[in-house]
Amino acid sequence: MTATIISGKQVSEEIRGNIAIEVKELVAKGVVPGLAVVLVGEDPASQVYVRNKEKACHDLGYYSEVHRLPAETKQADLLALVDKLNCQDSIDGILVQLPLPGHIEEKAVINAIAVDKDVDGFHPVNVGNLVIGDDSLLPCTPAGVIELIKRAGISLSGKHAVVIGRSNIVGKPVSLLLQRENATVTMCHSRTANMAEIARQADVLVVAIGRANFIDASYVKPGAVVIDVGMNRLENGKLAGDVDFESVKEVSGPITPVPGGVGPMTITMLMQNTLIAAKRHHG
Ligand code: GUN
Repeated sequence: MTATIISGKQVSEEIRGNIAIEVKELVAKGVVPGLAVVLVGEDPASQVYVRNKEKACHDLGYYSEVHRLPAETKQADLLALVDKLNCQDSIDGILVQLPLPGHIEEKAVINAIAVDKDVDGFHPVNVGNLVIGDDSLLPCTPAGVIELIKRAGISLSGKHAVVIGRSNIVGKPVSLLLQRENATVTMCHSRTANMAEIARQADVLVVAIGRANFIDASYVKPGAVVIDVGMNRLENGKLAGDVDFESVKEVSGPITPVPGGVGPMTITMLMQNTLIAAKRHHG
């Protein structure tokens, strides 16, 4: 049996089409959504991500600013830039690309971003609102995972979702969002005993552990939905997910590929968050 492939690329295009319509309406009222991206240093992966974000802004007609700062930038100077962007009326969303160089405390920088411009959804107030189920800017990759599942026509209510990985960026928030959709959620991580046995109980398996091709068919119940959040660069330069796609697709139900699965959704949700922030800011 070969599984249905969930195309994040296709779903992303659909959502971006809807965003473009809303942007047109906003622009007609004199509001142009604005995103500021800050990149410190020359991490090659970060440079690619930032370029993709800049391109998405351009394609959708957003105002965008990219601040490329040298790796040796002082924390105080970065905080001063964030503060300036917090006060800048043309900017609705601020994203400081992570990771930051070692001498800069990420927490201090995230905490400095205005809550209503925090389009990454990383500020503790937005995280807290997510936990208690209040309105907040949702972190982009977890929001993209849920959107992808829903738009593939998969209902989460009453399903057993197993999340592998407990990071602040993906594992923890995605588990909260799955609960919000009325799934029953189990979290696994590097210290989990009998992980394959637990994973095999999943109706929906979300994998975000950062280890290339780690999840093989022995982790997957026949017919289960498999969402691969992994983006691992192999030595040959190719991108690999956390899921061994070739073996898993023989047993799973709908499954996301890498690339072309969750990846494109992350930037699309960033664009959506910036639009939401712009509407609140100028509404
Ligand atoms: N680095 C890798 N993923 C992300 C993300 O979603 N947001 C930010 N700010 N940095 C990242």
